[in-house]
Amino acid sequence: MLGGVKPRALGGAAIACIIALNPAGAFAKQLKVGLLVPYSGVYAALGKEIDEGFMLAIEEAGIAGSLNVVREDTEVKPPVGLAKAHKLILEDQVDAITGIVSSGVLAAVRDYIDSEKVPLIVANAGNDEITGARCSKYITRVSFSNAQVNRPMGKWMHDRGIKKVYTIAPDYAAGHQDMDAFGEAFKAAGGEIVGSDYTPFGKTQDFGPYLTKAKAANPDAIYVFYAGSEAISFVKQYDSLGIKKSIPLYASGFLTSALYVNAEGPAAEGVIAGLHYVPTIDTPENKAFVADFKAKTGRAPSEYAVQGYDAGRSLALAIKGGATDRESIAAALPKTSYTGPRGPLKIDPATNNIVQNIYVYDTVAGGSGLTQKIIATIPNVADAPNGCKM
Ligand code: PHB
Repeated sequence: MLGGVKPRALGGAAIACIIALNPAGAFAKQLKVGLLVPYSGVYAALGKEIDEGFMLAIEEAGIAGSLNVVREDTEVKPPVGLAKAHKLILEDQVDAITGIVSSGVLAAVRDYIDSEKVPLIVANAGNDEITGARCSKYITRVSFSNAQVNRPMGKWMHDRGIKKVYTIAPDYAAGHQDMDAFGEAFKAAGGEIVGSDYTPFGKTQDFGPYLTKAKAANPDAIYVFYAGSEAISFVKQYDSLGIKKSIPLYASGFLTSALYVNAEGPAAEGVIAGLHYVPTIDTPENKAFVADFKAKTGRAPSEYAVQGYDAGRSLALAIKGGATDRESIAAALPKTSYTGPRGPLKIDPATNNIVQNIYVYDTVAGGSGLTQKIIATIPNVADAPNGCKM
């Protein structure tokens, strides 16, 4: 980090490289941010998309030249994520970290981040505990919490006449938290969970045995969470094994993410899911974002792109507001509030988790592949008090 270096002690070219002019007209040092996402493993595509969204935001904000971005691959493995966080903080001396896709990795890095007092902007991982009992004033989440995305679907599905549900998810923190939040809300509304299963995370190739068991329980619907390459396999097998014909599939909306729904193909048509962002949101803010992201990447953005984008935008707001170091960035991040591509968003100061709309959407055939038809909007969803003492 260049924190202790006086610009005057450096040559002109070096100064030009390391300084940026902030809006107040004062010279600011070049800041370093660690981008800690999976670039390999089952969530590799998600990491790349977060990276692209983040870069778009800092380019748009005009701070890309004054931010040194250091990329590290978590491989979706908690011990690797923790080792990379050590490297970013001790060796690179970053001023902030963003990213983290897996709830397991987030749980692993939380205590280290908190003890080193380095601001972390969570750009995906939904682990409820990190904005609950294990919250930290150094951790702000601009993505979602697992409960926030799944809880609303419990009541919504019951209101639509679904009484018996079977749940399936990968066997790690996010899978359990998603199914718990959905199940609690569904049961509170009067529904019954007739069975549930957890599949080995990142290792399951064949969902057949789980789907056969689910079908035998004769539910009105099956509700699942899968993301990345596991989502593609699950959706395809749901169709090819013939379950889709008899039992409707509902999901945590990552299942049919815009990022990979076209790899799922017609098997994804008719899946009903809840999520905080789909690229078809009909607002000027979203239309502009979709156009900008398409111009940069050639494809429509997914929720992962918007999460990276909002992580970059919240960091840019902090820096442009005068934050210059770890402590001032951490203090500024929870003040983030604006109407962005996903709609109005703000950070709940009681938890440092985002407050945002949840959209229920149907995957339908569109002009050039599959698209998302929004069928309900549940506004301003915040987490219930969850044990956070900041
Ligand atoms: C998580 O592990 O929290 C997680 C991973 C991928 C998603 C959503 C949540 O798409």
